[in-house]
Amino acid sequence: MKINIFKTKEELYKDVANYYINVLQKKPQITLGLATGSTPISLYQKLIDAYKQKLISFKSVTTVNLDEYIGLSSIHPQSYRAFMNQHLFNHVDIMMDQTYVPSGTIDPNDAAVQYQELIKNHPVDIQLLGLGGNGHIGFNEPGTPFDSITHIVKLAQETRIDNQRFFKSIDEVPTHAITMGIKEVMQAKEIILIATGLNKADAVKAMIEGEVKPHVPASILQNHPQVIVYIDEDAASKLRHK
Ligand code: GLP
Repeated sequence: MKINIFKTKEELYKDVANYYINVLQKKPQITLGLATGSTPISLYQKLIDAYKQKLISFKSVTTVNLDEYIGLSSIHPQSYRAFMNQHLFNHVDIMMDQTYVPSGTIDPNDAAVQYQELIKNHPVDIQLLGLGGNGHIGFNEPGTPFDSITHIVKLAQETRIDNQRFFKSIDEVPTHAITMGIKEVMQAKEIILIATGLNKADAVKAMIEGEVKPHVPASILQNHPQVIVYIDEDAASKLRHK
């Protein structure tokens, strides 16, 4: 794991955006694994800016997202498909039919099988990850086996509470989600994880310095040969070795 610690979020996002800009310039036909949540928004904004400045194009890019809420259609404002359209896809020259997000509305088991196939057909070059406060990646909650593939999950109550801020009330937060499995995340050639803020400090410590165990899904990243972690000083504050 390569750990990059930044004084400010601005420096962090500038650096990670430059990383993506370089990669997209060198390999325009890339498959990017993308993430939702508040963490990637500033990165997406910087990539939109770079596109507008004609530094990069998404014309030949394929994207594969990590997860989706069960029961939310693609036009529901809190669906992850709507999130991706709003925060990235609608503002760049990407081909919409090359953007993949698991379906939250078809039969969940069918959706999982379809997505497993899709990932096989579109191996991810760089997987972007945020980090749940409880150490989850995608929606792989603590205890998820490391050999899991795309599956349906019952969301941990703390995850629903964490994500309540995007909904009117906790009752509106879906109880289940479909997520890429940990095995599939680990198959990406490269992984970039971003975490900022004090509320991520415990999860960051467990991910980097803790034992590799299913109780901390992100700890498996210690076993991946090509991971870059971007964290700010708050998220890094509990690390023993900096
Ligand atoms: C959700 C997503 C994760 C994300 C996490 C952290 O649960 N499924 O992919 O990493 O939230 O969210 P945030 O970036 O808003 O802190």
